[in-house]
Amino acid sequence: MYSRIAGTGHHVPENIVTNADLEKIVDTNDEWIRTRSGIEQRHIAADDETTADLAIAAAEKAMEAAGVTAEDIDFIAVGTTTPDLVFPNVGTIIQQRLGIHGCAAFSVEAACSGFIYALSIADKFVKSGEAKNALVIGAETLSRITDWTDRSTCVLFGDGAGAVILQPSEEQGIISTHLHADGKYKDLLYAPAGVSKRPQGDLNKEFAINMLGNEVFKVAVKTLGAVVEETLEANNLDHDALDWLVPHQANKRIIEATAKRLGMPMEKVILTVQKYGNTSAASVPMALDVAVRDGRIKRGELLLLEAFGGGFTWGSALLRF
Ligand code: ACO
Repeated sequence: MYSRIAGTGHHVPENIVTNADLEKIVDTNDEWIRTRSGIEQRHIAADDETTADLAIAAAEKAMEAAGVTAEDIDFIAVGTTTPDLVFPNVGTIIQQRLGIHGCAAFSVEAACSGFIYALSIADKFVKSGEAKNALVIGAETLSRITDWTDRSTCVLFGDGAGAVILQPSEEQGIISTHLHADGKYKDLLYAPAGVSKRPQGDLNKEFAINMLGNEVFKVAVKTLGAVVEETLEANNLDHDALDWLVPHQANKRIIEATAKRLGMPMEKVILTVQKYGNTSAASVPMALDVAVRDGRIKRGELLLLEAFGGGFTWGSALLRF
């Protein structure tokens, strides 16, 4: 028995912030942002728009694509680092607003790898027969923990949500998932204040993402290269067996390096970072849905999903769509 993706969806806030808009608030320029990251614009949530709002819109599209209704959902896993509240967890907020009652609903906090972590957990429940229609979401409003006066980070992030429905299947679906973390890198990428560790001073700054960008870059390239190799080796597959790479969308140059290691031409890599920036846990399911809806990814094709984020956490999923 496998778990298989029966439908996908994504949603982004209406408000688009271009590189030219950012030139007006920090000392940066379009050329620097494009060449260093590949990003051209990002969508930013309105003041009254939350992670749950984005997640629900993405979930509704995924349910529609899978041909299921809220009544069918019996498991909800959400990858996010920017939940609406400390508790109830954002999974239960989404559950309640979708009119679902009683099934497990929770969020997984693993920064940009949150969706891959949530997918891996849901896969086990579906495969074991404990869930028949699992709603798996990656959703973020990273703009809320971005210091909009820090040019080294504010140009990189965006808001959005992506979702999939997992169902049991006798045909191949998720073939393997590979999750990793190493807390020794915590000082390279972190948001310094939380709940138990009380913020002090300027809240906007104390909550904001801190990143040693070029150090993160080096570890990301090495680590993602290793996890894609691990995934192929675990399944006795050659690089050319893959139809698509659906990578975490942090930086076009990191994605190109991973594709090169896999010997994959960029035509087989789904790239959305130019339009959406880095949407953290939302980026992989958003990229997946974009390519499913525009007809590039088709049923039966072999996909490699990968992500890397704060912690560091990283992971991959090999699946037949
Ligand atoms: N505009 C103009 N100049 C800038 C900007 C900006 N927005 N930001 C930094 N600079 C300057 C720096 O000050 C530096 O100037 P200096 O040489 O005079 O000191 C110069 O540009 C080069 O800076 P670097 O940081 O070395 O640039 P780099 O080529 O490494 O690109 C970037 C920076 C885009 C951040 C890249 O390192 C990166 O993408 N890192 C990885 C990000 C990532 O993968 N994060 C993980 C996931 S995020 C999560 O988990 C929440």
